[in-house]
Formats: sequence, C-alpha cells, structure tokens
Amino acid sequence: MSSATFIRPSRGDVLELTIDSLAHGGNGVARLEGYVVFVAGALPGDRVRAVVGKAKKAYAEARAIEIVAPSPDRVPEVADHPGAPWQALPYERQLEVKAEQVADALRRIGRLEQFELEPIVAADEQWRYRNKVEFSFGTGADGELVCGFHAPGRWNDIVGMTDCKLVSEKVNELREQVLAFCKGYQAWDRRDHRGFLRNLVIREGRRTGQTQVRLITSPGKLDVDGLIDAVDTDGLWWTQTADLGESTYGGETTLLAGGPQLSERLRDLEFLISPEAFFQTNTEMAERLYGVALEYAGLRAHEQVFDLYSGIGTIALSMATRARRVIGLEIVESAVADAIENARINEMQNAAFYAGDARLALRELVEREGRPDVAVIDPPRAGLSQKVVRRVVDAAPSRIVYVSCNPTTLAPNAAQLVEAGYRLVKVRPVDMFPQTPHIECVALLEAGPDGVRNPDRDV
Ligand SMILES: C[S@@+](CC[C@H](N)C(=O)[O-])C[C@H]1O[C@@H](n2cnc3c(N)ncnc32)[C@H](O)[C@@H]1O
Repeated sequence: MSSATFIRPSRGDVLELTIDSLAHGGNGVARLEGYVVFVAGALPGDRVRAVVGKAKKAYAEARAIEIVAPSPDRVPEVADHPGAPWQALPYERQLEVKAEQVADALRRIGRLEQFELEPIVAADEQWRYRNKVEFSFGTGADGELVCGFHAPGRWNDIVGMTDCKLVSEKVNELREQVLAFCKGYQAWDRRDHRGFLRNLVIREGRRTGQTQVRLITSPGKLDVDGLIDAVDTDGLWWTQTADLGESTYGGETTLLAGGPQLSERLRDLEFLISPEAFFQTNTEMAERLYGVALEYAGLRAHEQVFDLYSGIGTIALSMATRARRVIGLEIVESAVADAIENARINEMQNAAFYAGDARLALRELVEREGRPDVAVIDPPRAGLSQKVVRRVVDAAPSRIVYVSCNPTTLAPNAAQLVEAGYRLVKVRPVDMFPQTPHIECVALLEAGPDGVRNPDRDV
C-alpha cells in the first residue's frame, strides 16, 4: 500500500500489527506506513490483533486482544492478575529499556547530549517488592464481590485475585480478611456511582513487620466492631468519601483501631508514616535511590540542603548527618507533621520542615532560611511547572539533585535548568518497579562557573 492510499484507522477497527519497540509509558509501538499505533498489552516482537481506541492524525492507541505470534523473547508469566504489564519481558531487557528511555527522554525531549548515563541500579527483588498497594472493590462475572485491580483499559471492571505477586503473603492475607468481612456489602459501581465499598489500601513496614489497613467507602453504615475483629493489623482506618472519582485521597478518615502511624526503617533511620503521606513504595530500593541522591549531593558537612517535595522527610533526614542544615517543604500537612516527628525520633536537630506549596512558598523559604547550597527536588509525576523552575533558579543552589519518577517531565525541567546556566552532569536510573514500565532516576545538575540566569530576576 502506498502512503497515498493509506487509510487512517478508526475507533473500533481491529488491526493485525507487529510490535517493534516500547514507548514511554510502556505500550508497544507498531508502525503502519509510518503511522504509529501504540498498543497496550503487547511487547516487542509480538504479532497481535489489536482493537483501536483513540485514532488521531499522527497516531492511534489500541489494545491487544489476541497474540497471534508471541515474541520469541517472552518469558513465562508469574502473575495471573493486572499490575505487571512487563512481566513477559525478561528482567534484563526491562532494565535496558528503562535506561534507554531515560537517555531518549533527555536527548529527544530535553535536547540534552552532554551528560553521563550511569548504569541502572537493578532491583533487589523482582516480585513481592511493594510496601503499599491500592486494591479496588468490584463485582465479578457471577455477581460476587471481588477485590483486586482494574482490568487493563477497562476503568470500571475490577479483576479479583487470590495472590497479588507484587506484595507479600502477609498483605494478601489482610486483603482476604477484609474481603471475607465485606461479603455482605455492595461494591461501588463506577458506571452508575452507586454502592459502598470502593478501595482497600494496605501498607507494610518491610523492616518492622507492621501493617496499616485503610478501607475506603461511600458515606454509610459499617459494622466497625466486626471489621476490627476480622482484620489483624497494627492500624485500621476507615475513609468515607462522596467523591465520584477513583482517588483514595480526601474524604473523612477515622482511626478505628491500633496506632495512627506505620513504623518503617530505612538504613539506620526510623520513620513514622501517616496513612495519607507519601512513602516510596519499594523500601529496599528507596535505600538505593537515596544512596544515589546522597552521593550526587556531594555533601561535606557545611551545606544547607533544601528537600523540596519532602514527604515525611526521608531524603532530608537521610542527608542530615552529612549537612549543616536540612529543610523540607511539602504540601500535605500530615506528612509534614510526620517529618517533624521523624526528625525528633531520629534525634536530628539540624532539620526543619515546612508545610506549603512549592509554587508559592519557595521564595519565602529562601527569605526565611537563606539560600540552599544543594536543592533536592522530588516532585510528583507531572514534574515542575516553569514557575517552580524559576523559583529554584532564583534560590541559586550550586547543586540540584533531581529525583524523578517520570523521565518525560524530568527532561524539559532539566532543559530549563540548563538554559538557566546549570550543567546536567549525570543521571542514574534506579529500578523501583520491576514488571512495570515505571521509571525512577536521579539527575545531578551543577551551576556553571558564571552562575545562573533567571528571567524573573533579569526583568
Ligand atoms: C514523589 S513524592 C516524594 C516524597 C519524598 N521525597 C520521598 O521520597 O518520600 C512527592 C511529594 O510531593 C508532595 N507535593 C505534591 N505537590 C506539591 C506541591 N505543590 N508543593 C509541595 N509538595 C508537593 C506530595 O505530597 C509528595 O509527598
């Protein structure tokens, strides 16, 4: 077929495609006469039949419905549930793809060439590595209550499971206990917004053995005593929310039994974690990630360090003994309260934590505390807005250690920082999420000899 006769696929079309690579985000990439189709549920080397969802001028999105000829590289699958979309890709290949995608994002999106890509740090555990999981309740094919993960590409269907291979056996037992108790209640229906049971969030202190269980429901009546009797955990919470979305944040949260915070250890530090505070989901690899961040910070005991997007203070506190002073900024107030308590229990007197929005509070933080020598930045997936980048440049740290969970937003932010006078020195990916396309990496940027330039200051 010549390109003149090429007819762009439409929604609902079923195509037979050969996958040649993996895109950022993890979908397979197939090409039809140069027209790109992103295919969920397919790996390089697969020949698949896929149904088209979105079809745009430059590309289409599709979902594999049948693997006509599997890639010869595929390895046997371990998990019989969603949540491990790359499990058929050999682990070594997963690592290669992740490293390539970090380099590709920086080069293609950021147009940055002059940096060292350090070897990716492989995960210690390829399965059962998560310390936190969010399950969803739904109704199975026979009308039964299920508690599991969303079916890929079907936001309103939940696939039940007996053994989630991403978490420990203990977490699976807790899920079973809650599910058994919940049998008399109705699952939330995502189509008509009716029903009671929505999500189940379970956290586990991998080093302490403690667990924290949070049941999320619509507002309504719950046999609280029955739930307390049924679930063997160190902290049991109930969140009631009228929100129509799928978020597990917000609503009214009540402690039903046990302690309010989960305790976990990272290296030689102890951390208390409130249910809505962020904590890296892979404890073992968080230690490795913070190890890279600490090395990149190059601390020699005289520096003031800003930890922006500090969560419960894990990065700031893991740097505190190597710095003169560490200061965290975080938007979630309960996380800031945890960070202050964590500084106290770890006897770090040179740490301070502030609650605030990085977009608005950074300038005031510099006025109050003085400029940082090192800024560690660990934002959510969306990365930094241009305004925050300008505020960081304004604060003029000599070194920026950027911890990113999304290389496609790290890349434009790094480019903006380079434009302002920083040099991207090196980047190191760390595999926190085996069997999935999620990529974490740490980047080091250093101020050039002529300092930095900030358009806000220059006007
Ligand atoms: C990727 S987490 C990193 C947390 C911490 N550095 C760690 O390693 O555990 C991002 C954090 O940014 C916080 N956050 C999100 N938006 C923010 C904002 N506008 N200002 C400050 N903090 C924000 C989130 O609550 C979350 O704790």
